[in-house]
Amino acid sequence: MAGVAVCPGSFDPVTLGHLDVVRRARGMFDEVVVAVGVNASKSPLLDAATRVALFEAAVTELDGVRVAPMPGLLADLCREVGATAIVKGLRGGADFDAEHPMALMNRHLSGVDTVFVIGDPALAHIASSMVRDVANHGGPIDDLVPPGVADAVHRALEARRNQGKNP
Ligand code: PNS
Repeated sequence: MAGVAVCPGSFDPVTLGHLDVVRRARGMFDEVVVAVGVNASKSPLLDAATRVALFEAAVTELDGVRVAPMPGLLADLCREVGATAIVKGLRGGADFDAEHPMALMNRHLSGVDTVFVIGDPALAHIASSMVRDVANHGGPIDDLVPPGVADAVHRALEARRNQGKNP
């Protein structure tokens, strides 16, 4: 498919599952814009600049993929970059249930359709929330995330603990 795909998410942090979806999107579209956004129902561990920088580092080798901060509406970013489609990965039915209303709202706001891709089943157990939880309890996350991400997560968790906050 020709055109520009936008892959949105909060990416807190980027995982190997996210990279798999971005690679699949790039296989279908000329260009992929990874949109690092704010999910109003979540309080992120990593700040927006760090989430963008970690995703940028993970896609330096991927031609035709760029990363953009998304401080506002996905619909606005879609207009700015001339998006042909929004691409999101599904690990299972629960993901679909969460994504379905967002896809309808985004089409209502922008006219851009969401295309769902089924990711690699070998990565279907990976979710950013679980990566943070495993790391918070001292478990290994290096094989769940791109290089450099585990260190950033551990640093952010440590900073939260030092502030007396429960990560
Ligand atoms: O990885 P997530 O947390 O499921 O990503 C959700 C995200 C950031 C893509 C979504 O919350 C979003 O698009 N936020 C931007 C604001 C927006 O456009 N909201 C209305 C459509 S859902």
